[in-house]
Amino acid sequence: MVASRWDQYRRLVQGRTAKRIATVADARRLAMRRVPRAVFDYIDGGAGAELTLGANLSAIQAVQFRPRVGVTMGVPAPELQTSVLGFPVAMPVLMSPVGYTRMMEPLGDLAGVRAAGKAGTIFTLSSMSGHRMEEVMAAAAQPAWFQLYFLGGRPGAEKLVASAREAGFSGLVLTLDTQITGNRERELRHRVGPPLKVDLPTMRKMATQVAVRPGWLAGVAHDRFQLSIVNTEALGTAGQPMSSEDAFAQWVASPARWEDFAWLREQWRGPILAKGVVTGDDARRAIDSGADAIIVSNHGGRQLDSLPGALRSLVEVVDAVAGEVEVLVDGGFRRGADVVKAVALGARAVMVGRPWVYGLAAAGQPGIERVLALFREDLDRTLRLLGCASVAELNRSNVRVPQGW
Ligand SMILES: Cc1cc2nc3c(=O)[nH]c(=O)nc-3n(C[C@H](O)[C@H](O)[C@H](O)COP(=O)(O)O)c2cc1C
Repeated sequence: MVASRWDQYRRLVQGRTAKRIATVADARRLAMRRVPRAVFDYIDGGAGAELTLGANLSAIQAVQFRPRVGVTMGVPAPELQTSVLGFPVAMPVLMSPVGYTRMMEPLGDLAGVRAAGKAGTIFTLSSMSGHRMEEVMAAAAQPAWFQLYFLGGRPGAEKLVASAREAGFSGLVLTLDTQITGNRERELRHRVGPPLKVDLPTMRKMATQVAVRPGWLAGVAHDRFQLSIVNTEALGTAGQPMSSEDAFAQWVASPARWEDFAWLREQWRGPILAKGVVTGDDARRAIDSGADAIIVSNHGGRQLDSLPGALRSLVEVVDAVAGEVEVLVDGGFRRGADVVKAVALGARAVMVGRPWVYGLAAAGQPGIERVLALFREDLDRTLRLLGCASVAELNRSNVRVPQGW
């Protein structure tokens, strides 16, 4: 397919912007400058007083390294490759599901899955995507996972699972911490969604924000304002698409429960991961219910406020699981050194949410690629400085955790 002038121009601008990203914090700053405030606050904000959001970062800061010097591993480079549930990945950094990416930048999840392919890692597609599952899988160069919300209730979930299976996703991530949406106070202030609607009240509320973000506006206009989620359309009956309002209402009426693993198992041959576990008790419950892996996650501080940082919860979960299943973690990981801490504390890999969408919102696919490259470079550097030849070698002796953890 021949790229249009517009695509060529976008790629040029995004490529240039991506070069200015030297840290995830840079990507965040550039994202803030490129998208309207309401969109940025949707990405960046947390629930309530944002205590969980802050705890994610401070828990990572509280863990320190215990290096071994004099055993330099300069050549060959440390081995970053590992596997998650048997899927090989080039580094222990995977991509968490993020909703409404198409309103951040039109290529949204397509850019995400392509960047994952280039980085040799696993992309997780949110149920709340603006792109169809089969479109995303067609762009995948690596195995990808689908994250399930019970949109349209259990009948809707069954259809989503069937579509994910047909599209070729290899893992199913069941998010358990979203019984209702957390109280994201920054979003409440804007009162414009998501989904952003193309109607007069929304335009009125956003007019001043959008006026100073012409690049964003040009992008979504060129994309014909496709700002809503699309995989719910197939959930209707008698050939009628289901509206997202109906899909959400039925989801809230029947959020995912441990009992649901039984019927999911009948319909899904691949691994099922339980996302949103933050205690040892629930980790045991996940194993008893048949989960193949656990994702320790507080939803990036967007759901229940006043939780411990995810890295702290990881330690509790890893102890409770005692090696029976693989444990992943997300929440607050912003550099390779953060990832090294989690792997040393027993995570099979780390997942990142905001880092990749800051990259996306700042500079499209090149922005995501840059962010993933930064994680990779810092993983390499940190392992060398620790005196560690591979991620597989990392263990608790490489870190010092605060007393009482
Ligand atoms: C803007 C945004 C949207 C999200 N949407 C979803 C979603 O649709 N499904 C889901 O399971 N998690 C969702 N999450 C949570 C992420 O999957 C992940 O748990 C979290 O972002 C990890 O924290 P981090 O952003 O600090 O890396 C979302 C997170 C963000 C920031």
